[in-house]
Amino acid sequence: MSLRTVVYHSQIMLGLTTWAVVGLVCFVKIAETKKPHILFVLADDYGWNDIGYHGSEIRTPNLDKLSGEGVRLENYYVQPICSPTRSQLMSGRYQIHTGLQHGVIWAPQPNALPRDSPTLPDKLKEAGYATHLVGKWHLGFYKEEYLPYNRGFDSTFGYLAGREEYYNQSRCIGGGICGTDFWEDLKPAGPIPNEYSTEMYSKRAIDIVNRHNNSKPMFMYLALQAVHEPLEVPERYKEQYTNIKNGARRTYAGMVAAMDEAIGNITAAFQANGMWDDTVMVFSTDNGGAIWAGGNNAPLRGCKATLWEGGVHGVGFVHGKALQKKGTVSNELLHVTDWYPTLVGLAGGSLNGTKPLDGFDQWKTISEGAVSPREVLLHNIDPLFEPVGDTLEGSPFDNRYRAALRWGNWKLITGNPGAGRWIPEPKSEDTHIGVDTVDTTKGIDSVNTTKNLWLFDISMDPVEKEDLSDRYPEIVMKMLTELQKLNETSVPCHYPPADPNSAPAFHGGWWGPWVQ
Ligand SMILES: *[C@@H]1O[C@H](CO)[C@@H](O)[C@H](O)[C@H]1NC(C)=O
Ligand SMILES: *[C@@H]1O[C@H](CO)[C@@H](O)[C@H](O)[C@H]1NC(C)=O
Ligand SMILES: *[C@@H]1O[C@H](CO)[C@@H](O)[C@H](O)[C@H]1NC(C)=O
Ligand SMILES: *[C@@H]1O[C@H](CO)[C@@H](O)[C@H](O)[C@H]1NC(C)=O
Repeated sequence: MSLRTVVYHSQIMLGLTTWAVVGLVCFVKIAETKKPHILFVLADDYGWNDIGYHGSEIRTPNLDKLSGEGVRLENYYVQPICSPTRSQLMSGRYQIHTGLQHGVIWAPQPNALPRDSPTLPDKLKEAGYATHLVGKWHLGFYKEEYLPYNRGFDSTFGYLAGREEYYNQSRCIGGGICGTDFWEDLKPAGPIPNEYSTEMYSKRAIDIVNRHNNSKPMFMYLALQAVHEPLEVPERYKEQYTNIKNGARRTYAGMVAAMDEAIGNITAAFQANGMWDDTVMVFSTDNGGAIWAGGNNAPLRGCKATLWEGGVHGVGFVHGKALQKKGTVSNELLHVTDWYPTLVGLAGGSLNGTKPLDGFDQWKTISEGAVSPREVLLHNIDPLFEPVGDTLEGSPFDNRYRAALRWGNWKLITGNPGAGRWIPEPKSEDTHIGVDTVDTTKGIDSVNTTKNLWLFDISMDPVEKEDLSDRYPEIVMKMLTELQKLNETSVPCHYPPADPNSAPAFHGGWWGPWVQ
């Protein structure tokens, strides 16, 4: 409620005396400086067409209700894969500025989000917050100093790498190298058998809320395993979807149902503990849906691991009493790097001591519907992805390389963006869904062509049907120039080979730090 509304109501309700108004204003001022609790829910591999309010056949009553009461972010972007999105959320910085331009951080790779700039929880802790991570990290763990517990969290409970089994936290990589990936603060924990992770994480989150002293603001980063493959879910969630004929899609729908229920349970716990009215909740996917594992991004083009909209145009919304305009849809351009300054700002924190941020404080955009301060969005420049075709004559940027840039409504893509099919919602067992195998560094059936330049007007053509690069050569050149300018600020890409010493067999059966 705005100050003006409160005063207005007070005039009606109290029959205006100067004393009453002054008293209320003072009270409201104190209330307004109270730091909100922040609940950040990050879903894994959750596709554009997998949430109720996008017309999905998958029902998400809790997400629909929360987003309907809040602000749905319909022009919101994430990165096409896991570690990149998480690195930008935690640092507020593009991948070209952290050395994580290429791929994800694989379990046996000695790689991590650099420690040269404070993380989002570092900053929130500095602003007086209790900080908790429940779920997935995926930003490196080869040295203990990179464990999330050493990156700003008061408590952590979850896994360090990119994926694992839902019921026993087991993670195998090629060559039969297996181990448990599960940590609590600085200690390996578990394995905790026979508990479905969506329920396990939701119970843990509720536990944290129940034990929390409400007088201290809390940041909870709930990075769910749901709804990443492997396709595993208790039968009772799947039973709701006997109408879905495709097996992978049916299981995936069950996984989404479990996630939606978990979010209902957690928000109920915030309510029961008197915290909900002071909570700002953000919900976001980390990238587009994995169409080979039940996810779907229709009508968008492409999927997870591609630079097409199906990879990067993310599901997201914000809920909370602190929003000025509730029940609205935002079409302003937002990016995952924006959460860092936005949430630190909301927490009344300071941005001192960070390396230059690539995000913008978007609170006014989200809360009041103000125009987004963001005109340019770098999707990525990947110097290690195999170049394709020939460089455009006169181009300031080597457009054989995989990159994409947004400038207002324009989107320029160069190099090989990955599979560019439009994949409809699977309707029967005999679709390719759940059958395709995929190299996530390439995207499925990588575009077999030497074409390496596209220009789209995303506001007119959100599904990337019409390449306008021939029609607007001056826009193309302008955007290639901007790409080159950004490219010149890149740090070297860090993508080391797997280290055999990482194998869990050398570390008591756990995936965990292996370098002193
Ligand atoms: C974990 O669960 C998976 C899937 O059920 C199973 O294949 C695997 O053998 C289990 N691993 C361990 C170590 O129990
Ligand atoms: C939600 O809470 C109910 C009631 O306690 C419980 O049965 C259910 O398993 C919970 N769901 C999840 C996904 O945690
Ligand atoms: C919560 O913290 C406040 C401020 O530190 C303290 O006064 C209060 O006693 C605490 N409440 C409980 C239930 O521990
Ligand atoms: C930022 O400023 C605060 C308050 O002056 C200080 O405590 C903190 O250490 C600073 N943080 C960084 C990362 O420089």
